[in-house]
Amino acid sequence: MRTQVAIIGGGPSGLLLSQLLHLQGIKTVVLERRSKAHVLSRIRAGVLETGLLSLLRAAGVDGRLASEGIPHHGTLISYEDMMFRIDFEALTGRSVMVYGQTEVTRDLYAAREACGGELRFEVQDVSICAADSAAPYVIYTHEGQQKRLECDFIAGCDGFHGVSRKTIPPRARRTFEKVYPFGWLGVLSETPPVSDEIIYAGSERGFALCSMRNPLLSRYYIQCPASEDPAGWSDEAFWTELRSRLPRAQAEALVTGPSVEKSVAPLRSFVTEPMRWGRLFLCGDAAHIVPPTGAKGLNTAASDVHYLFEGLRAWYESGDAHQLDAYSERALARVWKAERFSWWFTSLMHHFPGQSDFDRRMQRAEIEFLASNRAAQQALAENYVGLPY
Ligand code: APR
Ligand code: PHB
Repeated sequence: MRTQVAIIGGGPSGLLLSQLLHLQGIKTVVLERRSKAHVLSRIRAGVLETGLLSLLRAAGVDGRLASEGIPHHGTLISYEDMMFRIDFEALTGRSVMVYGQTEVTRDLYAAREACGGELRFEVQDVSICAADSAAPYVIYTHEGQQKRLECDFIAGCDGFHGVSRKTIPPRARRTFEKVYPFGWLGVLSETPPVSDEIIYAGSERGFALCSMRNPLLSRYYIQCPASEDPAGWSDEAFWTELRSRLPRAQAEALVTGPSVEKSVAPLRSFVTEPMRWGRLFLCGDAAHIVPPTGAKGLNTAASDVHYLFEGLRAWYESGDAHQLDAYSERALARVWKAERFSWWFTSLMHHFPGQSDFDRRMQRAEIEFLASNRAAQQALAENYVGLPY
């Protein structure tokens, strides 16, 4: 079997790239390890930057987003009982859209299927071959049979635990990593959100986050030890701890209810360089991971997709390889800025084991400076709504 671009991974990166290429008449096959139902069962943040919104519009998958997405013109930051607002509109003239990533993925699947997209689910033993040649190919097992897919290019969109990054010989790649000494215990509840806008809450007891999926579905997190077992937390214990980390007014206004999902996510910063090896191009979580504090995961994958799509389009239109040759450098320039913002915001808002009293005072002073200084708020807002592609 042959295609033009083999895409490993049927998450948001792979699907968005596949749909954009399809609209240019470029053939793709998406190879996904899990079932579609499993992919759609993942609960992920849903803060979409304007760049991603533009890509989804170009891909023709912004219909439901336009009607169900919630525009957010600012966000709230609190520390103990102090709370202030970062006004995205006033500071940048732009906003973000809150719309669950699961819904983005669902919309992308619907679009690919409507176009007769080649999606292979539950593929096993994917192996990328001859990526450093002009005739790369992928072998894999599907429905009990071994398959070989000849292609011009391979897009490694298979996330942090995928095969693509590891296909690049260790001698040819370099990784940068910071594992944070804590995680996020997250709860989804069918309750009205405590606030119309997201609250990033610092406190003496640790970080908390108040978010939402829609007016009747709330998403909350509290910082916890990285090894925390969610089963060890009753709903009541979670709500009590969350309240203790919020300003009094929000703690009193919080509407609690049974959790419909409860899980712990580890926090990590990670980048691999380069994001290309021959005809293999890494995209999204396959190449980089950010802590969720700035909601940059999908939004940084989106700029990778943009650069790779533009490079592939130029190559197929005119044989021009310049943008493909510039892909890794261009993508990494933006990746590192997202890594920095996510690391900075995480470092500002969380407790770190072993932190000295002086360190804690520095955090508190920076939050108080942020509360009072327009230039500091503008820097945060520019990063949050999305730096240019
Ligand atoms: N073969 C085929 N598919 C694979 C393999 C493999 N060897 N390994 C992983 N996959 C699939 C996973 O099952 C997953 O569906 O690749 C997909 C990768 O999707 P994500 O992990 O969501 O990564 P990405 O598409 O880059 O998403 C970027 O969006 O999902 C959010 O916040 C998340 O930061 C992430 C962002
Ligand atoms: C979420 O809604 O899950 C969410 C929102 C903002 C973040 C992280 C997660 O920074």
